[in-house]
Amino acid sequence: MQGELGSGKTVFAQGIGEGLKVVEPVKSSSFVLVNEYHGRLAVHHADLYRLEEPSQVFDLGLEEIAAPGVLLVEWPERAWGELPPEHLLVRISDANGAGRKLTLEPRGARYEDLLSQLAARGKRKVRR
Ligand SMILES: Nc1ncnc2c1ncn2[C@@H]1O[C@H](COP(=O)(O)OP(=O)(O)OP(=O)(O)O)[C@@H](O)[C@H]1O
Ligand SMILES: [Mg+2]
Repeated sequence: MQGELGSGKTVFAQGIGEGLKVVEPVKSSSFVLVNEYHGRLAVHHADLYRLEEPSQVFDLGLEEIAAPGVLLVEWPERAWGELPPEHLLVRISDANGAGRKLTLEPRGARYEDLLSQLAARGKRKVRR
């Protein structure tokens, strides 16, 4: 998730946590770069705001630890070169009041497929 300070990255990550039935709210901590949660899948949440060196991310081995589940990254621009090249970039902008603009940018075939599926779903009428 990429967006200015206070744009809603952590809140967005919390929504994903809730969707995956993680009981506690996803939060950033001052002392560790990555926190692990368990719901329907393992969820790793990394907040790179305080990153000093991109190589610190390399040392975490994020891609490996998060592989069976979901990896959520705040401030990915702090270490692009050390993050999985295939990902879905969520840009959060135009934060005013309760409104936010989300731009989803797929990187790699898996996420391009995912967005095509989402787009197709958006065109169908939702029946409840
Ligand atoms: N979708 C939303 N609708 C309304 N308010 C929101 C939304 N997302 C976030 N907020 C508000 O904005 C505040 C900041 O959100 P959040 O902590 O998620 O931002 P952030 O992008 O993670 O910030 P930081 O850059 O400091 O990590 C929250 O306390 C919440 O009140
Ligand atoms: Mg945050």
